[in-house]
Amino acid sequence: MQTKFKYKLAEDTIEKSEIRKLSKWILKNDRFTLGNKTKDFQKKFSNFLKIKNSIFVNSGSSANLLIAQSLLESKYLKNKVVIAPALSWSTTVSPFIQLGYDVKLCDCSLENLGLDINHLEYLCKKFKPSLIILVHVLGHSNDMDKILKICKKYNVYLIEDTCESLASKYNSKHLGTFGLASSFSFYYGHHISTIEGGMACTNDKNFAKIMASVRSHGWLRDFQVSEKKKILKKNKISEFQSKFSFFYSGFNIRSTEINSFLGLSQIKKIKKICKIRNRNFNVYKKELNEYFSVKCKTKPLSNFGYATLVKNRDKVYRYFTKKKIECRPVISGNIAKQIFWKKFFKKKIELPNSDLVHKFGIYLPNHANQTVRETKLISKEFKKIAKIKLV
Ligand SMILES: Cc1ncc(COP(=O)(O)O)c(C=O)c1O
Repeated sequence: MQTKFKYKLAEDTIEKSEIRKLSKWILKNDRFTLGNKTKDFQKKFSNFLKIKNSIFVNSGSSANLLIAQSLLESKYLKNKVVIAPALSWSTTVSPFIQLGYDVKLCDCSLENLGLDINHLEYLCKKFKPSLIILVHVLGHSNDMDKILKICKKYNVYLIEDTCESLASKYNSKHLGTFGLASSFSFYYGHHISTIEGGMACTNDKNFAKIMASVRSHGWLRDFQVSEKKKILKKNKISEFQSKFSFFYSGFNIRSTEINSFLGLSQIKKIKKICKIRNRNFNVYKKELNEYFSVKCKTKPLSNFGYATLVKNRDKVYRYFTKKKIECRPVISGNIAKQIFWKKFFKKKIELPNSDLVHKFGIYLPNHANQTVRETKLISKEFKKIAKIKLV
């Protein structure tokens, strides 16, 4: 039987009033496939992030898949070697495996849970990759200064999986605006929600065009008129055929106007939500600093959940479950320990920090409906049972 938690890891950010507005709007309209609401949501999201292009898709996972395929179509890469974070989510890494990239896992930093800089540099020297993917974990930024330096030194593109870190900044710049492209998730319990949904963002105009087309079957309809004309002429395609001509090998991973309607309403609440998440994080930090303390320059922070390392994780989990407090592993631990990974890669890799987080990591609830009183109560219960795992 499933436990009903009183203190949940995440709660929905969509309110009843938003559903009522959406219902009214649905009754007044008759077509809900990609249209003006999506264009508006993409524009507003770009404005918020201060990025030039945003492409709305049906999940954060699809945003990663879209980026992985668009990179192949762009021909920007010198080879298919990619470095990906060991401490990440299955669909941060799996699109690259599915599309035949040669994926090398990088260990995590115990300072910020992002990429470990020494290991990253070692991998760059050894494998000469074209691409680095990182995850900004639980709202915390990677060490962007050092990572950008490595990208420059080894001539590699950067992709940021920002699915857990919407609205967090590094040196006054939004996470998800440092690399060639980035992904965001609007799944239930994320900073904002469109039920399911994700965004792929980029400042590169050509890459944005490729992503818009690959999102929609790979068709020509998202091309500028002049470019489309040139392609049609070169390939001797008639106007009659043009709407049904495909330039890229694409997917259909679009979302709908219904989800965009929610996105437009949710985006207005980001700042308020982040303030609460940050406030709760500071309460945790004061209470539980000794259990693990992330050191990074993220400012302001939009925390996703409070990460700790404990010796007796199963005991904490059982005690918390009894107390109806939800908790979980940090993302999903070390990807190299996941069953799907082991099916593809037989060789054991040394990833000591990710192993440590895999074995001892546990994260505590934080969401926009969580009060200071609840955060203190969770901290108090945690301190009663959890044994600190020193790094
Ligand atoms: C780091 C990371 N990347 C990608 C995803 C996938 O996002 P979605 O659930 O929208 O597919 C998640 C999900 O939480 C995540 O934590």
